[in-house]
Amino acid sequence: KTCLNTYNYVCFYSRALSHTPTSLHINQTQHCKLLPGLVSSQAQLCRSNLELMQTIIAAAREVKKTCQKTFADMRWNCSSIDIPSLVLFQTGTRESAFVYALSAAAISHTIAQACTSGDLRLCSCGPIPGEIPEPGYRWGGCADNLHYGLVMGSKFSDAPMKMKKAGSHANKLMHLHNSEVGRQALRDALVMKCKCHGVSGSCSIRTCWRGLQDLKDIAIDLKTKYLSATKVVHRPMGTRKQLVPKDIDIRPVRENELVYLQSSPDFCAKNDKLGSVGTQDRQCNKTSIGSDSCDMMCCGRGYNPYTEKLVERCHCKYHWCCYVTCKKCERIVERYVCK
Ligand SMILES: *[C@@H]1O[C@H](CO)[C@@H](O)[C@H](O)[C@H]1NC(C)=O
Ligand SMILES: *[C@@H]1O[C@H](CO)[C@@H](O)[C@H](O)[C@H]1NC(C)=O
Ligand SMILES: *[C@@H]1O[C@H](CO)[C@@H](O)[C@H](O)[C@H]1NC(C)=O
Repeated sequence: KTCLNTYNYVCFYSRALSHTPTSLHINQTQHCKLLPGLVSSQAQLCRSNLELMQTIIAAAREVKKTCQKTFADMRWNCSSIDIPSLVLFQTGTRESAFVYALSAAAISHTIAQACTSGDLRLCSCGPIPGEIPEPGYRWGGCADNLHYGLVMGSKFSDAPMKMKKAGSHANKLMHLHNSEVGRQALRDALVMKCKCHGVSGSCSIRTCWRGLQDLKDIAIDLKTKYLSATKVVHRPMGTRKQLVPKDIDIRPVRENELVYLQSSPDFCAKNDKLGSVGTQDRQCNKTSIGSDSCDMMCCGRGYNPYTEKLVERCHCKYHWCCYVTCKKCERIVERYVCK
């Protein structure tokens, strides 16, 4: 399948995952050609900065892993993220809003941290903050280079949406907006991290730097935004057409809300065209009242119980000094899968 008619990171990204081996020994001409999802300015970035490209491909793996973890308790569990599907590709659904936001955040996140770990030659640690730290604290360590991550990340992520030809104006606006929401969530995830020093761990002095939280924390933040995303329409506002909330009286779209143009299918049944794998055989939780409850997950079709044998460490004993011995215990648990 090709990435025809698409202009997005998700397409590139599914290509990247299917074409590149885990260890990336690549060369310019060969490698950048293996990624036909790239638009011209991305391909140029690839040829001129192969190191950066490796970081971006690493980000793609993170996006997939993190998306699936974050949505493990939902009907749409992100398993369709690397198959070209309508839900993520052509139409602007809530799910694509999340994936674009997470992708944009992940790319910039990975670049910012690659600067810190010395994987990129063209950048290094972020700047030392201007303000004077509180007593007992001093700046040190190596800050994540968020600025470089944001600049290079948006250059890559937004390139397809800035192309003249590709895609509808409404979709481009939507993806650009949601990518920016993702990057804002990343900015909000820059926190102070410290290490203790002093005699025998007294922590009389702390060395601190600005570091980014894990991508999974950013994904949880974006999932909350996904759940409360705003449906928008593409409508003239002043001299240009813009995205405006559909149901709420006139207010502009907020900078921190995810927006979507199309309602999603319910993801209950399998539908390859839409990119819905359905929820048959998904595990559900009989006692939960959330999205992973058997009622919600199985869409009212019912569920089948099965038993699983768990082997756990038990009756652990501490021996002076210094080891622990445990026995192995078996426990039978009942689990449920959707019909
Ligand atoms: C890139 O790799 C291919 C195949 O491994 C090889 O034929 C080609 O000469 C290499 N190009 C460069 C510039 O090293
Ligand atoms: C997502 O759901 C599909 C369909 O039930 C299932 O095959 C797949 O294993 C699930 N993926 C993950 C990562 O849980
Ligand atoms: C099921 O849901 C309940 C309540 O939310 C939770 O305490 C429990 O750990 C869940 N069980 C599994 C197997 O996830």
